[in-house]
Amino acid sequence: MIKTIGVIGAGQMGSGIAHVAALSGYDVRLSDISEDALKRAVDSIGKNLDRQVTRGKATQADKDAAMKRIATVTDMSKLRGCDIVVEAATENEDVKRGIFKKLVPELGPETIIATNTSSISITRLAASTDRPGKFIGMHFMNPVPVMQLVELIRGIATDEETFKSVKDLAIKLGKTPATAEDFPAFIVNRVLLPMINEAVYTLYEGVGSVEAIDTAMRLGANHPMGPLELADFIGLDTCLAIMQVLHEGLSDSKYRPCPLLVKYVEAGWLGRKTKRGFYDYSGEKPVPTR
Ligand code: CAA
Repeated sequence: MIKTIGVIGAGQMGSGIAHVAALSGYDVRLSDISEDALKRAVDSIGKNLDRQVTRGKATQADKDAAMKRIATVTDMSKLRGCDIVVEAATENEDVKRGIFKKLVPELGPETIIATNTSSISITRLAASTDRPGKFIGMHFMNPVPVMQLVELIRGIATDEETFKSVKDLAIKLGKTPATAEDFPAFIVNRVLLPMINEAVYTLYEGVGSVEAIDTAMRLGANHPMGPLELADFIGLDTCLAIMQVLHEGLSDSKYRPCPLLVKYVEAGWLGRKTKRGFYDYSGEKPVPTR
């Protein structure tokens, strides 16, 4: 039975996972190497819970109880005793491997390790741990408190008991699981990211402005956000990392990242989190940059 959930990485995904887990009654230990990131995470979880209270989706008592269930830790040894640890660090294979190397000696043999990777091979990541049978992909969508889906991805060695426990957990978190095979970027990002990359090509080739492209897809395809707005929301570094995994993993030139996306990332224009991407977020309202 899962009671205590460790979350590694206090960025937007890790905070969202901690938020949903605590609100669903689980004890959460949120871990990051940066005290500042942990402070920002707790602050944003508090604000997002307030938003749910204001809209009648949760009560003040639910919020208070959820906040009390979240402990923040900077030392991975404090994750000992967790029933599952969900890794939600940067989308970079070396970073994730480095984390698993430090994490594994701290955990008892029963602890499941799940990764929130949005594209990297689960089988390969699992092989870098001591427990490929108890290792699984559990991919949440952003913003985690709002989005219904969790993709579940078995590595070649993932055992059935692990799969069942994690599927059950996803349902208890109020999410709907969809199972994907362990191929680059799984289902959602295999379809979504080439669409976003194509939108960047559309901009790069001058087919439309940022505003025209986003308006076209919002009103013409009924997407809640335009693709460039969504790219800024996901983070342009993450978008590029996923395109690179698709390009390398499937060896097909149709997945080549748009040079304009590469340039934005090289400039450090990563979207909302750096206040500049396809939009400038420094003012009250986002302003298109092209
Ligand atoms: N925490 C809690 N609640 C939140 C929230 C958050 N971080 N962000 C938004 N909300 C809630 C709001 O309170 C509101 O709740 P009600 O419906 O109860 O009123 C609801 O979500 C809608 O929010 P807003 O009215 O503020 O804004 P909106 O209507 O413009 O919706 C959105 C915002 C839900 C983000 C919507 O624009 C949307 O669905 N965008 C697309 C998101 C998407 O595609 N995500 C997937 C990204 S891909 C991914 O995550 C995979 C990957 O690996 C890259």
